[in-house]
Amino acid sequence: MDTKDVSDFPLAIEGDPAPMVSFRKVTKSYGNLTVLDALDLDVAEGEMVTIIGPSGSGKTTVLRMLMTLETINGGVIYVDGKPLTHMERGGKLVPANDRHLRQIRSKIGMCFQHFNLFPHMTALENCMEGPVHVLGLTKQDARERSEELLAMVGMADKRDQHPSRLSGGQQQRVAIARALAMRPKVMLFDEVTSALDPEVIGEVTNVIRTLVSEHNLTMLMVTHQMGFARDISDRICFFYGGRIEEQGAPDELFGNPQRERTQQFLSAVKEAH
Ligand SMILES: Nc1ncnc2c1ncn2[C@@H]1O[C@H](COP(=O)(O)OP(=O)(O)O)[C@@H](O)[C@H]1O
Ligand SMILES: [Mg+2]
Repeated sequence: MDTKDVSDFPLAIEGDPAPMVSFRKVTKSYGNLTVLDALDLDVAEGEMVTIIGPSGSGKTTVLRMLMTLETINGGVIYVDGKPLTHMERGGKLVPANDRHLRQIRSKIGMCFQHFNLFPHMTALENCMEGPVHVLGLTKQDARERSEELLAMVGMADKRDQHPSRLSGGQQQRVAIARALAMRPKVMLFDEVTSALDPEVIGEVTNVIRTLVSEHNLTMLMVTHQMGFARDISDRICFFYGGRIEEQGAPDELFGNPQRERTQQFLSAVKEAH
């Protein structure tokens, strides 16, 4: 990654508030395969954006790069007004060091398809771990925060259970509480209902609904549940080949898609259900 001029990657149009998350001409490739192709994507503070699109179109890659699980090959990612992958040094953007990455990463929480709870810890201990060991909260403060969040996701009565004693839906709700216990500004959800039995999907989507309606979190979600996405999103981005093929308000994108690829994808998804 090279040094770049800050002015080549303007964060915001003058006069507009800066977005919470911003991809500027971000390129990611593996060998010859370009997975993200000069991607521009903004998410405003408090906005819920859902990414849909065919398998392999780069949806997960977008989230993994926000978690700095991947390095990028070109462009800049901004989170909360600061470059994620770069630091500003005298008007230049230079590649970020570990300390900078940790600081920015602490603003982002993520839930995956597989919940990855710590198996040897109870639900409550899972939620307390990060606040105590990463944020430096006292056990008492971490416990209060975690109990409140477990109550919010409807898991207060299971707080002393280990993950192996919980259903998939219950584990996923604990995983959401655990991510929120770090007080992220941005939450990422990657197919969080895909590994669940159909009858427990609703308990997880209801938690996400509550977050949308009652909290001012910025959220970026990948899902195959089109009805859910249409209900709760402010905007839908349809990904194809590492680019945004089409985006818009849910009713526009689902009700009146303009691009042929979007139309084809949506009708294929409809037939599969
Ligand atoms: N570590 C990797 N090495 C090589 N190719 C990868 C790697 N991770 C992802 N890819 C490829 O990048 C493309 C996009 O992957 P991904 O973002 O996971 O797609 P989606 O989530 O939309 O299904 C796919 O073609 C995938 O095979
Ligand atoms: Mg994926």
